[in-house]
Amino acid sequence: MTRPADTVSESRQWDRLMTLARLGAIPGDGVNRPCLSPLDRAARRQVIAWAREIGAEVSIDDAANLFIRRAGSDPDAAPVLTGSHMDSQPEGGRFDGIYGVIAGLEAITALHDAGIVTRRPIEVVAWTNEEGGRFAPGCMGSMAWAGHTPLSAWAAVRDPAGITFGAALAEHLAAEADLPRRPLGSRPHAYLEAHIEQGPMLEAAGIDVGVVTGIQGSRWFSVTITGASAHAGTAPVGTRQDPVQDMLRAIAALNALTADPTDTLRFTVGRIDVLPNTSNTVASQVRFSIDLRHPDRAILLRTGDAIAATITAALKTCRAEVQEHFHAIPVRVAPPVVETVAAAAIACGHRAMRLPSGAFHDAQFVVPIAPTGMLFVPSRAGISHNPAEYTAPAQLAAGTRVLAESLARLAS
Ligand code: GLV
Ligand code: MN
Ligand code: MN
Repeated sequence: MTRPADTVSESRQWDRLMTLARLGAIPGDGVNRPCLSPLDRAARRQVIAWAREIGAEVSIDDAANLFIRRAGSDPDAAPVLTGSHMDSQPEGGRFDGIYGVIAGLEAITALHDAGIVTRRPIEVVAWTNEEGGRFAPGCMGSMAWAGHTPLSAWAAVRDPAGITFGAALAEHLAAEADLPRRPLGSRPHAYLEAHIEQGPMLEAAGIDVGVVTGIQGSRWFSVTITGASAHAGTAPVGTRQDPVQDMLRAIAALNALTADPTDTLRFTVGRIDVLPNTSNTVASQVRFSIDLRHPDRAILLRTGDAIAATITAALKTCRAEVQEHFHAIPVRVAPPVVETVAAAAIACGHRAMRLPSGAFHDAQFVVPIAPTGMLFVPSRAGISHNPAEYTAPAQLAAGTRVLAESLARLAS
C-alpha cells in the first residue's frame, strides 16, 4: 500500500521554497516579505497556482487568512487543519513560517499523487501577519480567526511608513476579491503546524523531527519616554530632559528585573525609535519595544506586571508611558496530536524527540479552538530571524513525511 509519506517529493518542496525565497530576497540568502505587501501577494498567488494544480479549493477570510482545501470522502466531516505563515521578519530567513505552508501543500499533493482520499477534508492555512514585523503585534490572523481579538482592534496600527493595518488589509482584500470569501473562524477536527525549530536542540541531539509539547508565553510592550529636545552644544546637562539617557536607565533596571540565572526568562529590546533622530539635538522622545517570554504563566505575569513600575522608578528627568499590546499565554498542546506525530515519525523511520517551543506560533491561538500540535525540523546552528537560517532539503522532507503521515491519520 502506498503511504502518504512515500510520495512526498523532496525536490518539489525545495524548489517551491526556493521559488518563494526569491520574492523578497535580501543579501545573505535572507528574505524580507512584509505581510500584506505586493511581495506577500505574489507569494500567495504562486501558492494558489500550485494548489489549483491538484484541484484544491482556495478561499480567504476577512483577516486575509488563506485556506487551501483538499476534499475528503465525507463532506460533512470537520477538516484537519495544517499550515503556518508566509510573512517574514524584515531581515528574516527562507524557512520561518513558509516551510509550514509549503509542507502542508506538499502533504496534500503527496496524498493526491498517491491517490489517497482521506475521510476528512484537509485544509492548509497561511495565517496573516504572524511575525508582527510590519504591523505589531504578530499572530493577528490567527488571533482574529480564534475570536481572541477582533480585527478592528488593530485597524489603526501603523507600519514604519505610516500605513495602517486597516488600510493594508482593505487593499489586500480588494486585490484578492476574485477569491471566494469564507467566514472568519471555524472548528477544525485538529490543527498540526510544521515549522523550523529556530533553536539548537534537534541539531545538537542529531534528531530528525521535534514533537512539540508546549509553547512558552510571550508579552509585548511598547514604551514611550518623553523629554524635551534641546541643543546638543549649548544645553547644560543638568537642565536636560533627555529620553535617551532615561531609556538607558530604564533598560538597565529591566535587565535587573529579568535577570535569571537559569536563562529561562527571556527579555529583549529589539526596536528603538528616537525622535527627532539627529546627532546634534537632545532627543524629545524615544519609543522602544519589550519582548518578554517564559514558559511559566505566573512568572510571566508577575514579571510583566512589574515592568511599568520598574521603568518609572528608573527615570531621572522624563516621563514614560507603557502599553501592552500582545499577550500569548504559555500553552500545552493536545496529547492525542502529540502521540499521533510521535507514531507517524516511527512509521516513517525518522528519529523524533519531544521539546517545547521557545518561539510563539499561530498554533498558540488555535489551542483553545481545536486539538493542536506542532512538529519541528532542525535549524542549522539554531539560527533564525536571521538571513543565515537554514535547514537542508532532506531534513525539510523528513518533517513533511511525518506531517503527511500525521495528517492522513488525523483525517482518517
Ligand atoms: C515568532 O516569530 C517569534 O517571535 O517567536
Ligand atoms: Mn514562524
Ligand atoms: Mn518568526
